[in-house]
Amino acid sequence: MKLILLGAPGAGKGTVAKLLTKMDGSVQISTGDILRGAVQAGSDLGKQAEAFMKAGDLVPDELIMGIMEKRLQDPDCAKGFLLDGFPRTIPQAEALNDLLDRIGIKLDMAVNIDVPRDVILDRLTTRRTCSNTDCQAIYNVKSNPPKQEGICDKCGSPVIQREDETEEAISHRLETYNEKTAPLIGFYDKQGLLMTVTATDSNDVIEAVKAKLES
Ligand code: AP5
Repeated sequence: MKLILLGAPGAGKGTVAKLLTKMDGSVQISTGDILRGAVQAGSDLGKQAEAFMKAGDLVPDELIMGIMEKRLQDPDCAKGFLLDGFPRTIPQAEALNDLLDRIGIKLDMAVNIDVPRDVILDRLTTRRTCSNTDCQAIYNVKSNPPKQEGICDKCGSPVIQREDETEEAISHRLETYNEKTAPLIGFYDKQGLLMTVTATDSNDVIEAVKAKLES
């Protein structure tokens, strides 16, 4: 499958993407995970992105397109991909359309995961993430804690709170989402690719995607 996952911070894009990869071997491509990996590695990309991320601002479109031009042409994308956190602005969505046209790939749909704001705020303040950038497993102290407190079930690395999970950064990320990313819902609707799923249970999102792909 070739999907875009849209939704506010904390809507569950990463959680749903990880579940969908198990269906047909499609790869999850999370620009947030790629950028956090670059920050931890201290690469040029990481140095350029770090301050934007910490403040809850978007990283400039040129940097993101530089990453995605290469990533979408990697051999593992041939089976399918789940774009988690990309595109995030209308210019990114337009550039993605151009890129997909050039490399001859057609999207199946853009799935908009719609979750109430109070649920989102609760999830973001209680999320924990594996600190190993090759793993980045997602936990939640309320709904999905690691078996051993503070330790990743999958790789044994410490599980931490992300740097952009301060109250101030969360509220800024939500404002940024409303201003810059929410317009993508209309963008993909016009292209006939949008499916909105209003659900707080990730399994409901998976079922809706399956049903749509089969129809
Ligand atoms: P990114 O990492 O993409 O963050 P985000 O979009 O803010 O999304 P999140 O990862 O916060 O949430 P999510 O929807 O994946 O939810 P999750 O599954 O974790 O981006 C971070 C930063 O990088 C950006 O602010 C920006 O600076 C930069 N960036 C990234 N991409 C960019 C781009 N394209 N352009 C420019 N800048 C970019 O779930 C959240 C929590 O809820 C977890 O604890 C989870 O366990 C829990 N949960 C999820 N689903 C459920 C459920 N059904 N029931 C109960 N709990 C649940």
